[in-house]
Amino acid sequence: MSKPINRRDFLKGAGVLAVAGALPVSMIELAFADSAQNFSFAYISDAHLQQIKGAKFVNNWDRGLIRAVAEANLLTPKPDFIVFGGDLAQLGKKAELDHGAEILSALRSNKVYHVMGEHDYYLDLGQYWEKLFGPQFYSFDHKGVHFVVLNSILTYDDWTYKRWPTAEQRMLEMADLDNPNGSPFMVGDKQRDWLKSDLEKINKATPIVVISHSPLQKIYKNWNFWTDDAEQVQALLRPFNKVTVLYGHVHQIQYNQIGNISFNSVMSTAWPWPYPSTYAQTEQYLPKLTVPMNRADPFFERDATGWQFINMTNGNVDMHYDLFSNTSRTVAFNTKTGEPEDTVFQSPDKRIPPQTQY
Ligand SMILES: [Fe+2]
Ligand SMILES: [Fe+2]
Repeated sequence: MSKPINRRDFLKGAGVLAVAGALPVSMIELAFADSAQNFSFAYISDAHLQQIKGAKFVNNWDRGLIRAVAEANLLTPKPDFIVFGGDLAQLGKKAELDHGAEILSALRSNKVYHVMGEHDYYLDLGQYWEKLFGPQFYSFDHKGVHFVVLNSILTYDDWTYKRWPTAEQRMLEMADLDNPNGSPFMVGDKQRDWLKSDLEKINKATPIVVISHSPLQKIYKNWNFWTDDAEQVQALLRPFNKVTVLYGHVHQIQYNQIGNISFNSVMSTAWPWPYPSTYAQTEQYLPKLTVPMNRADPFFERDATGWQFINMTNGNVDMHYDLFSNTSRTVAFNTKTGEPEDTVFQSPDKRIPPQTQY
């Protein structure tokens, strides 16, 4: 009988797998050739911590984030930094944001970068969030990569400032799916102007990683899997050789390529969203979904939720999805096709059978 694998061993193995096991051969060669530039970071997103009353919060959502923090602390190799990808709160309340900040304070990391989610924003328009976590958009450089963090969940001023009698109603309307009273997300003129001037200073050969909450591509408008000025943001990124956009919000695995820009979603620690059937309408944007979702058990609310370990090899992102209760997945950038791909799940003969127990 083989020795049972404990969680720490598995995480060590996962780190090795992300570097050596699941990548195309050419990527491995490149990694060895220039290993000094390789680095990794971890990404946790969409915790949706919800206050019930006083110090009582929805336990499932708390447990998801607590577990992600604990697992991030066990990672080998240790990630250079952590990103929290937005929707820390469910209804933008101070108590929810404070609760989230407290749970995240257990991360043993030098640095945590924060991204604004619509659930954090639409109660007080990000005021309290800014006090806790800093500016809503910014950039930084790390080991030769230029990172940009955007607030992509803004919308029209009329909708934000004039339409609603209370801030609470505004928050609830924006949190709703299939809501005719909703409004599409956007980055907006002000941030796009800032992005343009931020990128003007950067050499076109520098790898760029843009981090947003909503996808900077148009996937499904009714659920705001959509950013209305996505094309304008993409146009600013087009002159660069290597661009990756990482986003949360969709609570599922997505990867895609538009021109020079590869897109990878990150998972939620709270709950999975299904793929909307209307994805068929947007076939030109998304890879063909031969495997609808790595979601074996719809009755198990944790399935298809998790967090990510991201390996940056020569400027391209390889995404290791660590799912709470399903087979982990790796989406690696294939230099031959110039696209991110999941070599296991995109190949029918190599498909991993769904896990049947947890
Ligand atoms: Fe979310
Ligand atoms: Fe969101």
